[in-house]
Amino acid sequence: MQIVSTVQGQSNVCGIFGHPVGHSFSPVLQNTLFQALNLPAVYTAFDVSPAHLPAAVQGAFAMGILGLNITIPHKKEVMALLSGIDPLAAQIGAVNTLCRRENGFWGYNTDILGLKKCFALHGHSLKGASVLVLGAGGAANAAAFLAASEGAGHLYLANRTRAKAEALASQVQAHYSIAITVCPLEDLSALPTDLLVIQATSVGMGSWESPIQDISFWQNARFVVDIVYTPWETKTVHDARSQGAEAVNGFEMLIYQGIASAELWHGISVDDQTARTLCGLLADYYQNRKDTK
Ligand code: ATR
Repeated sequence: MQIVSTVQGQSNVCGIFGHPVGHSFSPVLQNTLFQALNLPAVYTAFDVSPAHLPAAVQGAFAMGILGLNITIPHKKEVMALLSGIDPLAAQIGAVNTLCRRENGFWGYNTDILGLKKCFALHGHSLKGASVLVLGAGGAANAAAFLAASEGAGHLYLANRTRAKAEALASQVQAHYSIAITVCPLEDLSALPTDLLVIQATSVGMGSWESPIQDISFWQNARFVVDIVYTPWETKTVHDARSQGAEAVNGFEMLIYQGIASAELWHGISVDDQTARTLCGLLADYYQNRKDTK
């Protein structure tokens, strides 16, 4: 038997609401971060069905829960249950982090902050850059708004269903005066070089596929972030690297969105070196987990 003194009466409780949520990596991520930074808090996962979401959010506030992550399928529905929403999260129309305030929870989108940190830590500025977003779903939405809010020079959107990319373009242009071109996924030959690319489709998740068939396209890319990280080296990352581009999978985004959530809950700022160290440690752990083999 061993004394466990890491969780005490004054410990703050944080967690994640999802349905299902058993696969979530966030408990390992957050408890590792809390311990590394000596934060008096504990984090766990709550399987909350859609019907119970209002009661769960209200109950969490009543119980003094400090902060929450919100994942599928609640990222939109939770917005009606909050006392305030960060403007960028409101524009995107999705909230993945709740932060305790005096009168209720405030909603944020740290998926976008995680992606922003990923670019920053690799030394690539979105300001003035030509940015290509592949996809037009929830992840692409966050990526497009990040590019616009960071002052990208030109935004290119390519999605299997063109109408969805056009709708996303209008949504972004309702908030930002940015040049946007919608292009077909099958023909990206008109795009300029030195592109920053965010692969935000679900293509390649658990399979050896990429949304771009002509791998010579990747010669136009400077830096590529693929939101997918299973398999660890996705076909998109593989193809991009083979054509000379710098490319990373979506694991860093996952870790950096978690760090951004913890920063909001605890009112702290995690320095770049700590963020990189945590990311490397968790990447090793994730790749060596028995159930990922
Ligand atoms: P998320 O919220 O994770 O972004 P989503 O909203 O389901 O997920 O969006 C999935 C994205 O992957 C969409 O852009 C989808 O394209 P469509 O809008 O045409 O459905 C894209 N996608 C999924 N399967 C694809 C495939 N086989 N080829 C190309 N794009 C695909």
